[in-house]
Amino acid sequence: MVAYNPYRWETAHDPYPIYRQLRNEAPVYRNDDLGFWALSRHADVVAAHNDPVTYLSSGGVTIEGTERGSPLLLVMDQPEHTWHRKIVSRVFTPRRVGDLEPFIRARAGELLDKFRDAAEFDVVTDFSVQLPLDVISELIGIPEDLRATVHDLSDRVLTRTGDSQITDEAISASIELFALFLDLVKDRRAHPRDDVISLLIQTEVTDDDGRARRLSDEEVAIRFQELALAGHETVAKLIPNGMVALTWFPDQRRRLREDPSLMRRAVDEMLRWDAPSQYQGRTAARDVEIHGVTIPAGDRVILLTGSANHDERAYDDPERFDVLREIDHPVSFGFGIHLCLGAHLARLETRVAFEEILARFPRFAVDGERAVRHAHSNVRGLSHLPVLVHGG
Ligand code: HEM
Repeated sequence: MVAYNPYRWETAHDPYPIYRQLRNEAPVYRNDDLGFWALSRHADVVAAHNDPVTYLSSGGVTIEGTERGSPLLLVMDQPEHTWHRKIVSRVFTPRRVGDLEPFIRARAGELLDKFRDAAEFDVVTDFSVQLPLDVISELIGIPEDLRATVHDLSDRVLTRTGDSQITDEAISASIELFALFLDLVKDRRAHPRDDVISLLIQTEVTDDDGRARRLSDEEVAIRFQELALAGHETVAKLIPNGMVALTWFPDQRRRLREDPSLMRRAVDEMLRWDAPSQYQGRTAARDVEIHGVTIPAGDRVILLTGSANHDERAYDDPERFDVLREIDHPVSFGFGIHLCLGAHLARLETRVAFEEILARFPRFAVDGERAVRHAHSNVRGLSHLPVLVHGG
C-alpha cells in the first residue's frame, strides 16, 4: 500500500515515483498520522483550484495549516480576498512588468559576468536568490540603500529547521521586515512619489457590498512583504531546477540554442518538470466525494501540483523534459482566484535569466554530487548547486 509523507528525505529528494503510485492506487489519499488528504491527479487538482467555495485557503496552505485571520492574500477567502487582490493586481499590469525587462537583463548580466573567467559558481547563492529580490525591489521602489537589508531579512524569514518548522530567527526577521516596509509606507504617505508604494496607498476599489475600500498602512506593508517573499523563493528555486533539466537533457539544450524563440515554452516546461511549489493546501468547507471517497468537512486537503504536472493522463511521457511541449496553463501557478499574481513576472525573469546564462556559458554542467537540497515539505529546490562553467 502506498504511504506518502512529504517530510521524508527520500520523498523530498525524488517525489515523482510515489506521486505515480498515488495517482494510480490512491487518487484520494489519506495520511492519518499527519492528518491530511492528498489529491494527485491533474483533473482533480485543477477542479479543486477552481472551486474556492469548497476548498478554502483561510486555514492555511501548508499541511499543518495556520490560524485563521492571516492578512496574507494567499490565505484569504472570498469575499475579502476579492477586493484585496483587485488592489494588488494594479501592480502587475503587463506594461509595468514588461518595462522591467531591461533592468532584469542588465542585473542578470552583472551577476553572471563576475564568473566569466571562473571555473565554477553556485547558481543558487551567486545568482538565483539575488536576481528575484533585486527585481521585486525595483518593482516596488525599495531605495538602493535598503536593498541589502531586505535581502538579508528575506533570506532569514525563509530559514527552517531540518523538519521544515519555522525558526525563532525567521519570526524575528519577519517582524523586522514588516517594520521596514511599514516605515517606507508611512514615508510615502507623507511624501507621495510616482512609485508602486504610493500607488497602493492611493488605490481605491469597490468591495462586494459596493463600499469604496483602501488599504491601511499596515495592509500595504503586508502586501509588500508577501510580494517580496512569494517572488523570492519560487524563482530562486525554479532557475536551479531548470539548470538541472538542461544538464540532464542535452538534446533539449541544443534545441534551445538553435532556436532561442523556444525559451518561452522551455520556461513553462521547467515549471512543469520540477515545480518550485509542490502542493497547495486547503480546508474542505463541506463533505466532498471524489472517486467514491468522502473527505469530511473541516479536513485538510493538499493539491499535489508536482504530481498533477507529471500525470500521464494529461501529458505524454511526463518524466521527459521537452521544450517543444505545448502547455495551455501550467498547474505550477495555480488556477482561479488565487492564480499567481507574479506569473508573468516570474516567466519573464526566468526566460531572461536563461538567455543570459546560455549566452555566456553554453556548455555549463551542474555538479549534482555537490548539490544541497533545501529541506521543506512544499518548496522543492536546492540551496546550493555548483555549476561547472566549461562543462563536466
Ligand atoms: C516560479 C515562480 C512562481 C511560482 C511557481 C509561483 C506559484 C504560485 C502559486 C501556485 C500560487 C497559488 C497558491 C494557492 O493557490 O494557494 C501563487 C500565488 C501568488 N503568487 Fe506566485 N509563484 C511564483 C512567482 C511569484 C512572483 C515573482 C510573485 C510576485 C512578485 C508572486 C506572487 C504571488 C502572490 C501575491 C500570490 C497570491 C495570490 C492570491 O492568493 O490571490 N509569485 N504563486
